[in-house]
Amino acid sequence: MSLKALNIGDLFPNFEAQTNLGKIDFYDWMADSWAILFSHPADFTPVCTTELARVAQLIPEFQKRGIKPIALSCDTAESHNAWIEDIKSYGKLPSFDYPIIADDKRELAVKLNMLDKDELNAAGIPLTCRAVFVVDDKKKLRLSILYPATTGRNFDEILRVVDSLKLTQTKSVATPADWQPGGQCMVLPTVQAADVPQLFPDGVETIQVPSGKSYLRITAQPQN
Ligand code: BEZ
Repeated sequence: MSLKALNIGDLFPNFEAQTNLGKIDFYDWMADSWAILFSHPADFTPVCTTELARVAQLIPEFQKRGIKPIALSCDTAESHNAWIEDIKSYGKLPSFDYPIIADDKRELAVKLNMLDKDELNAAGIPLTCRAVFVVDDKKKLRLSILYPATTGRNFDEILRVVDSLKLTQTKSVATPADWQPGGQCMVLPTVQAADVPQLFPDGVETIQVPSGKSYLRITAQPQN
């Protein structure tokens, strides 16, 4: 049975699953890390192959941020292991070191609302869409994105979002459009003017706008 749609801030449900690296309990596998769970329509498909290779190439970037990737595809662990050889070949990877959940019965895909009713396999059964869930070390859902099967994800963007999530959970800032790590940030609207000097000793610039309201406050990215 599917869960009600998960919202940001909800406790992400624990689950047990078979993977190409053996059976896991999701929470135990996460331990104290964050996790990114990303689903795929099927093994041996072109866009999915590029995505799994890209994530494998980015493993050092995920490690730097304390976040463990785990993929999901609706095929068996044996199929995943055979496909991994293609992924390694395509991505010129010496090894492939993160798990792919074997959701061949689509139990997790149904539970987590990952099925795309418009994308059917040869037997007319819905495939999984390209879902992304970022789960933090308290097991809370921090980000969810759904892409259709025909659009591969940009994993540099997902790393950028993780950087923003980690920055904004401890500093009184939000990150603006197209922000990149090290770029200027916006002071949170909830920060009172009287608190600005203490919170932002390096200064804040307020952009003047026709409304006369002082809500566009820009500051350098606070240091960790
Ligand atoms: C792919 O991974 O290339 C793909 C899978 C299902 C539908 C469309 C594309």
